[in-house]
Amino acid sequence: MKAIQISETGGPEVLACVELEIPTPGAEQVLVRTEAISINFADVLIREGLYPLMPTLPAVLGLEASGVVEAVGNAVTHVKVGQRVAFIGDGCYSEYVGCYSEYVVADASALIPIPDALDSDTAAAFPINYLAAYHMLHTVAKAEKGQSVLSYAAVGGVGIAIIQLAKLAGLKVIGLTSSDEKAARAKELGIDHIINYKTQNVVEEVRKLTHGKGVELILDSVAGPSFPNNFEMLAPLGQVIMYGMAGGPPPENLLEPLMAHLGVGVRSFHLFASIGVHFPDLMADSIRTLIGYLVEKKVAPVIHDRFPLTEVAQAHKLLQSQKTVGKLILKP
Ligand SMILES: NC(=O)c1ccc[n+]([C@@H]2O[C@H](COP(=O)([O-])OP(=O)(O)OC[C@H]3O[C@@H](n4cnc5c(N)ncnc54)[C@H](OP(=O)(O)O)[C@@H]3O)[C@@H](O)[C@H]2O)c1
Repeated sequence: MKAIQISETGGPEVLACVELEIPTPGAEQVLVRTEAISINFADVLIREGLYPLMPTLPAVLGLEASGVVEAVGNAVTHVKVGQRVAFIGDGCYSEYVGCYSEYVVADASALIPIPDALDSDTAAAFPINYLAAYHMLHTVAKAEKGQSVLSYAAVGGVGIAIIQLAKLAGLKVIGLTSSDEKAARAKELGIDHIINYKTQNVVEEVRKLTHGKGVELILDSVAGPSFPNNFEMLAPLGQVIMYGMAGGPPPENLLEPLMAHLGVGVRSFHLFASIGVHFPDLMADSIRTLIGYLVEKKVAPVIHDRFPLTEVAQAHKLLQSQKTVGKLILKP
């Protein structure tokens, strides 16, 4: 079978297409033939060696996919051959499973059964993005109808999930993006306000849009040196959740700017470290809720483009170019 492996960290050139034996599932595992493989920004960070939870190299990349069950282990009773499933292969949630591959062995307990109403690309595109957005909004922030949320990378994979789930919950959504083209797409996707951070003053715009009050919640996937600017845009008792570092780590000394804005909250979030590992029942409940939303078309992931598995390097370059709106999918 074809798989995309890295033996060292680096640029897109380290992504090697290799031939591997089709794996045999253990007693509590299943073999899945993949139909759609999702690209996450975390894959880029793993490829570059910058992700906090690195797999042991050489490793097949990829954190989520969908497909059809081809074989089940001896002890598996609740999954049938031919069943359509999605799965998340993050090393922190279950055993690290590389999903950029024609076949994958996954733990039967980690499978997400996919109803016929959902196509394979949607099944691969939703789990990580929508679960992260859902748990940040509802489990962690407990956001309430009428409150305002500021979302970085507003038309990225997670960003679009935030727009859709926040609007469903009655929140006002202000987004940040880097181009007028992406700002126009954000409007089409139902965002209330969008700010081009390359051409506008973000702090001023947010204060203007909230009549000087600030937002109750900021969901920041970029961080970087300007992270403390978030404190200027929070309402009293508001909080910023840092869930990514696309722009690099925040400055080491956060205490000083924080002391100038007493009362605001700062926290970090990681879907598996925060929720998957400690609250498996919450995770299972949220998966059921989100599949319901998808089937009822209350939410729908946006697929920016699809690439053959062997053209993964081009897909990584595109994701890093900041030109995508929604998800990139690999087709085996
Ligand atoms: N903590 C968790 O559980 C969790 C789960 C899923 C994803 N994440 C994180 O959430 C973020 C979004 O993930 P995603 O897969 O949905 O990716 P994405 O948002 O589709 O793509 C990344 C976006 O980040 C923005 N960006 C800002 N600075 C950037 C830079 N220096 N290089 C590249 N992009 C930059 C760009 O949007 P603009 O051009 O509009 O700024 C870009 O389109 C990532 O940081 C990821 O690691 C965290």
